[in-house]
Order: sequence, then structure tokens, then C-alpha cells
Amino acid sequence: MPAKLTKAVIPAAGLGTRFLPATKAMPKEMLPVVDKPAIQYVVEEAVAAGLTDILMITGRNKAALENHFDRVGELEATLLKKGDVARLRKVNYATDLADVHYVRQGDPKGLGHAVLRAKMHVGNEPFAVLLGDDIIDERDVLLSRMIEVQAERDCTVIALLEVDPSQTEMYGIATVEATDEADVVQITGLVEKPTAGTAPSNLAIIGRYVLRPEIFDILEVTEPGKGGEIQLTDALQVLAANPGIAGGVYGVVFRGRRYDTGDRLDYIKAIIQLAVDRDDLGEALRPWLRDFVSKME
Ligand code: G1P
Repeated sequence: MPAKLTKAVIPAAGLGTRFLPATKAMPKEMLPVVDKPAIQYVVEEAVAAGLTDILMITGRNKAALENHFDRVGELEATLLKKGDVARLRKVNYATDLADVHYVRQGDPKGLGHAVLRAKMHVGNEPFAVLLGDDIIDERDVLLSRMIEVQAERDCTVIALLEVDPSQTEMYGIATVEATDEADVVQITGLVEKPTAGTAPSNLAIIGRYVLRPEIFDILEVTEPGKGGEIQLTDALQVLAANPGIAGGVYGVVFRGRRYDTGDRLDYIKAIIQLAVDRDDLGEALRPWLRDFVSKME
């Protein structure tokens, strides 16, 4: 039986330049999506899949991340004194969620380099990687299915999503073959952000991976690729092309709701999509939104 997965790695060292000036003094992972910072959705997703040992790969300017997942005595005392139990519970929820560890990336050499920084913490066991720009709707299943496939096949698993062909140049793209399971494909090739018109498919990598520790050895010798950065996709391509090394690479094709908070337009869409479905906000937001849209037309 393969070891049970407990560890999740969350790269969070990016500069967030697309959101300047909001991200001048605040990490982009702390931008609120409705009323929670984007990063909290990702940690909650990992915890929901049973991963309670979280390693964040951070950098300069990321102190707010550590503060968010730590106690805040003064605020707790004030809320307690007021008897505001509901808000106190919200504040403490983020603190008690998981065991969060931090390591700095140092040089910004790309996603592959960020993941390599997790080597010491992860050791010799499979682990998950969750990218903060993607939020997966908590009502839909992805990570726990990926963990299941990893255990069944003792392989590497990545999440795939069918995207519009015009968008393939924004993602890592997979070449795949069918398996005996409808939602699982075998990956025979991967290419990071192919130039327009050259993508081998429209199956894009979204930011969820369940990796085997062999990835670290490969990342150590992976040369900078697209954008001059050490790409995780390039290291995964080595495993896909050599299934003998670590059981090959499989994709779980996700058909649920995914929200992208990586750029400004998608971020706005994500907030609206999540808010209209919320019990506390949806009822008031939906009719307002309809009215707003009809007046716009
Ligand atoms: C990263 C990966 C890419 C993947 C994407 C998903 O790119 O390198 O393969 O498709 O995340 O969000 P980034 O968006 O960080 O440039």
C-alpha cells in the first residue's frame, strides 16, 4: 500500500504584478474573494482532502500570509468582550485549520524551483501541490479523486480541464490516451504554454498536482524553459515520457466549477460567481445583478 498522503505544498512567492498597485505592500494571495483571502480557499480545499500538513513557499513581502494563519490575541479578546461569537469563530477558523509551515523561495526561478524548495519538508513520500490562482468549488470533487488515483496507480497525477483552444497558450497542455476509467487519462506528453496554433490538445493543466518524490531529482536537473524559468511542466514531461521511472503521469479530467483569480477580469468573475451562490449574499445580489445587467443592455 502506498503511504497515505498528508502533505500539501502551496507555492505563494509570486509578485502579483498583474494586481499592482493592490499588491505593492500586500501579497496577492491575501486579496479577498468575497470575504476570505484567496489563499484560505486553497488551504481549506487541501484540508477537506485530508491534507493537514501545509507547506507554503513564500518570499519577501509575504508576512501577511503567516499572520493570517496565526492567532491574533487583541482581536480575539475584543470580539470575545463584545460577545461576537460568530466573527470570533471565523477568525479562529483560519488559525486552527491546519499545521502551516513556511519556507522562502529565495530567487524567483519559476514554479519548478518553488516546488523543489519543498524537498526537505516533504521527504520521501507523495504530496500534493495546489496553486493559489485556481479556486475549486468546494461542492465539486477534484483533489480527493486525484489522491485516490495516485494511490491506485502509484503514479503522478495532474488535474486537467478542457479549455477553449484560444486559451491554450496560457497553460501547460497535455497529450493524452484514454484509460479504463472515464475521468482518468494517461499523459504521454506535456508542453508549457505552447505558442498559438501549436497546442497538441485543449486539455490544460489546472493548478492541482499529486506528485511522487522522484520529481525532486528531476527538478534538480531541469534547465530553465518557457520564460527562462524552471518549469514544473518540463519535469513532469520527463516522467510522462519515461513511465518506468515513477509509474507514469495520469490526468484527472475535471468537469466541475473552477474559478481563476490570477488576473483582474477572472478575479472579478470569481467573486461574482461565488457571491451569487452564497446563502448570506446571494438572495440580495442576484436581483441586483439582473437589474444591473438589464440596464446595461
Ligand atoms: C502554471 C503552470 C501551468 C498551468 C497553470 C495553471 O502557470 O506552469 O502549466 O497550466 O499554472 O494555472 P502560471 O499560471 O503560474 O503561469
